[in-house]
Amino acid sequence: MDNSVADPIHKQNRAVLHSPKCDISLTIMAPTQKSKPASNPASSSAPTHEISNVTLHLSDPVDLEMQWVGRPELMSQVLAAWFQVHPDDFPLAPRLVGKPGVGKTTLAYAAGKAMDQEVYFFQATMDTRPEDLIVTPVVAEAGKLKYVASPLVTAMIRGGIVVVDEGNRMSEKSWASLAPLLDQRRYVESLVAGIRIPADGAFRFCATMNDDASTFDLPEYIHSRLQPQIFIDFPEADEERVILKYNLPYAPDQVVEYVVRFLQVAHHLGEPYTVRDGINVARYALKLMGAKRSIGGDTKDGPGSTSEETSAPQRKALTQAIRMILGEEATEHLDHRGD
Ligand SMILES: Nc1ncnc2c1ncn2[C@@H]1O[C@H](COP(=O)(O)OP(=O)(O)OP(=O)(O)O)[C@@H](O)[C@H]1O
Ligand SMILES: [Mg+2]
Repeated sequence: MDNSVADPIHKQNRAVLHSPKCDISLTIMAPTQKSKPASNPASSSAPTHEISNVTLHLSDPVDLEMQWVGRPELMSQVLAAWFQVHPDDFPLAPRLVGKPGVGKTTLAYAAGKAMDQEVYFFQATMDTRPEDLIVTPVVAEAGKLKYVASPLVTAMIRGGIVVVDEGNRMSEKSWASLAPLLDQRRYVESLVAGIRIPADGAFRFCATMNDDASTFDLPEYIHSRLQPQIFIDFPEADEERVILKYNLPYAPDQVVEYVVRFLQVAHHLGEPYTVRDGINVARYALKLMGAKRSIGGDTKDGPGSTSEETSAPQRKALTQAIRMILGEEATEHLDHRGD
């Protein structure tokens, strides 16, 4: 059976490769032609790009207020992996590994922004198919097929950074389609569009992965392409304080200190609570206090208390927030000084 893309206009330029593994024909342009940018006549906000006479509709980069604070060595490790020491050298594709909520996505995005390039996210899931990662055909007007480039392929074309977030939720089959991109070949092949897509020289790749159990074990040939591994551990108290203050600049110092102490005890006891949990706890405690004040007019020792220690209402709100966000067992680690 020949499943190669039926395209009378481009067919003559194509070589057809038969894949014994999946019983389909892979149609690629031979040789790969230099791609050229094109503007989309329908909409200037949705750019297109032409490769071998196939028009790809590009995705949008993300622009977020997400900064990395503290632990500059982790940022340097990502940037070093992307560094090209010689024109013949090619960048590495680091994987950022750590518990949920330690800052993997934040670091990946901030490192991309530090390169002063467009950053694209691809959220990997168990249902991610190879074509979702590369090019998806969608039916447009008059029943015509329109080829939509994934954020990953858009980053490849535009010389941006892609973050494949939660990468080990994605199956080996999907990762396999990225194998040539992650070595010196630096291209992907779109089966549906019948084209080979080369990455721009400025393109950089990064994956984030949780080290929890709910994920796929990736095969060695994928792991060996996702190097180096950058492990993000729980931060030290000083760093945790800076991160909390950065994310909650309006939180009183006593509340931040209380949450830092709670997190540090939890880390030492091997509990999985992360800085994200700490941010959520502090945020919810402040809301509880704020709501109480606005409903009941209770202005004593509220969020703005000037005492160095947490006030009784602050501790009450923090305890309730910890119980509701992390569960009853988390309250065992609370600092009850002054109670
Ligand atoms: N160094 C840091 N600088 C700034 N914010 C940070 C830092 N580390 C963690 N955070 C904050 O912690 C929260 C969790 O971070 P993030 O979402 O990046 O974690 P993650 O490791 O990707 O989690 P998950 O595995 O669940 O996706 C975010 O609110 C983020 O802003
Ligand atoms: Mg994340």
